[in-house]
Amino acid sequence: MPNARRLLVTCALPYANGSIHLGHMVEHIQADIWVRALRMQGHQCHFICADDAHGTPIMVNAERLGITAEKLIARSQQEHEADLAGFGISFDYYSTTHSDTNRELVSDIYTRIKDAGLIDVRDIDQFYDESKGMFLPDRFIRGRCPKCDSADQYGDSCEKCGSTYNPTDLKDARSVLSGTAPVMRQSEHYFVRLGEMTELLKNWVDSGHLQSEVSNKLQEWFTDGLRDWDISRDAPYFGIRIPGTEDKFFYVWMDAPVGYLASFRDYCQSVDKDIDFDAFISPDNDTEMVHFIGKDILYFHTLFWPAMLSAAGMRLPSAVHVHGFLTVDGEKMSKTRGTFIKASTYLEQLPPDYLRYYYASKLGDGLSDIDLNLEDFVARVNSDLVGKFINIASRCAGFISKQFDGRLADSMDNPALFEQAAGQADEIAALYDARKYNQAIRAIMAIADETNRYIAEQAPWTLIKQDDQRERVQQICTTGINLFRTLMVYLKPVIPHTAVAAETFLNDGQLSWDDARTPLLGHAIAPFKALMTRLETKSLDVIIEASKDDLVDRDAAAAAEMTGPLADDPISDQIEFPDFAKLDLRVVKIIQATHVDGADKLLQLTLDLGGETRQVFAGIKAAYAPEDLEGRLTVMVANLAPRKMRFGLSEGMVLAAGPGGDDIFILSPDDGATPGMRVK
Ligand code: MSP
Ligand code: ZN
Repeated sequence: MPNARRLLVTCALPYANGSIHLGHMVEHIQADIWVRALRMQGHQCHFICADDAHGTPIMVNAERLGITAEKLIARSQQEHEADLAGFGISFDYYSTTHSDTNRELVSDIYTRIKDAGLIDVRDIDQFYDESKGMFLPDRFIRGRCPKCDSADQYGDSCEKCGSTYNPTDLKDARSVLSGTAPVMRQSEHYFVRLGEMTELLKNWVDSGHLQSEVSNKLQEWFTDGLRDWDISRDAPYFGIRIPGTEDKFFYVWMDAPVGYLASFRDYCQSVDKDIDFDAFISPDNDTEMVHFIGKDILYFHTLFWPAMLSAAGMRLPSAVHVHGFLTVDGEKMSKTRGTFIKASTYLEQLPPDYLRYYYASKLGDGLSDIDLNLEDFVARVNSDLVGKFINIASRCAGFISKQFDGRLADSMDNPALFEQAAGQADEIAALYDARKYNQAIRAIMAIADETNRYIAEQAPWTLIKQDDQRERVQQICTTGINLFRTLMVYLKPVIPHTAVAAETFLNDGQLSWDDARTPLLGHAIAPFKALMTRLETKSLDVIIEASKDDLVDRDAAAAAEMTGPLADDPISDQIEFPDFAKLDLRVVKIIQATHVDGADKLLQLTLDLGGETRQVFAGIKAAYAPEDLEGRLTVMVANLAPRKMRFGLSEGMVLAAGPGGDDIFILSPDDGATPGMRVK
């Protein structure tokens, strides 16, 4: 194709620290529709992603699970890739930022930035956890809000009064990791001198690569002045070591965007060897680099990332497409309401194309949030997809296969109607390209409406009773099926799984964009099979219920620390004796056991540790009634750092055995034991 575009398209790299949820899917579906629409028109899109595998939370989580960070991220990548594939996200390559290629590339970029004189090294003061031997990110410090005095607030902002502050302002600061009071400690940090690049960044922002809402936001930041960017973190840190240092690592947000290029380079080297990676990333070329991201990570992509690239002498992004956040029934996704829905939970119940269609019907090119209204979701899928679109094929296909031996007529009854639909191919392609999917869907559904009206007016089911009208019936149904086919072309980027089934039915290979313009005539189609079924409200109920369970499972697991080995590795990684020796196991007496409001699986236990009393939440409600527990002895981990749960503070954990649910048994030491006794 002479005017084929060549593009590198990316989605933000999901953190290897949690599951893909329907919020992430807004972005992946938005980008995937864009890529598929371009590919159908013959453009060359390399669609690339990876897991974002570095940073303190991942390191801490792995430690908590008793596995290596490498194992955690490998497991997570496998899960992410499966979820994304389940939704038909057509990545050409999916890698991880924890790769040799990424280390090489980020080191190279850093060296270039340093050689350009844009790195500053200076000391900063920061909270340090002496018992853990590590500096604490703001999120790992909690204390009382300096403004409103609310207890247990994060180191950077208060959830109660909304104020933001420095962790040093926090009262009674405590490390989330150990519960100890952190101390101030000085260390050397590396900074990128962003201010030096203000002019260059302003020029880039002004030259049409961004949505206007985004450039306006950036103007505000320019007015405030760009501050230097701290790109280093002290060991221990799960990340990439800064060249020329012993114990400094790149801050995760330095190596994460480089992951776009590292993943792409691995793809060029291992899959599509015709692509010249170096040419692709050099300035001044006619390829495009397009990033899809959410509005929360705008700063990183429209300031830091172009600054890094340009300081390193590389090409800048052609576009950063920013989307808004997902709400469910008008509110932030909520674990309590069961609206924090994991991709896998959705896929267990429903076909991916339903959600893809719904998101498409709501997505525009702006930053406004998009709402998954569950009632509207059901109505839209049933009325648009099943009631309008699929209905066209199901009304016409029966006649063709039963009356005309599966053959379409040599001409259409209403070519003008077809031409009118076919004539919108460019316009609809342009709407996809502009990410105005909601408008594209409206135009497409208008065609479906007209087609249905036409079929209803012609009423082939009545005509077929007249022998002299048989030929017309064939031509009417041929018109209908060709309109269905054109609509299928237009919808193929949105509902690719349905498209595959429709292609089998149409029996003419894979649909490309140009197929929308030329009808299929005198052609044998395959027997029609239902392409889609109605969406039942009860599937959504199941999803919501299952999502509530996800939470309670996690809370229970957190409470009882029962996040033990997963199915694929029956025994956890080995630990050394000193690790084991750290556990302070004690006999305790359960003095009180109560139900917890709003928790399906938890019991709140008050434990006597031989004088000291502790409160612990344990996920054992399915196995024990509170009255069965009171007065009993059991074993607890007494030196586990307290953790805040939705229901209150849990100060340790109780040991139990068994797979979970009602099949769990708390350890019950002999009556000879007494509360407070050490367990050896
Ligand atoms: N790891 C970083 C991105 C690094 S890119 C070099 C990150 N990861 S994330 O998993 O938190 O988010 C990945 C993408 O999903 C981001 O673009 C983010 O905006 C988007 N979303 C996460 N939750 C979302 C919603 N609830 N709604 C819509 N998009 C959301 O940020
Ligand atoms: Zn406050």
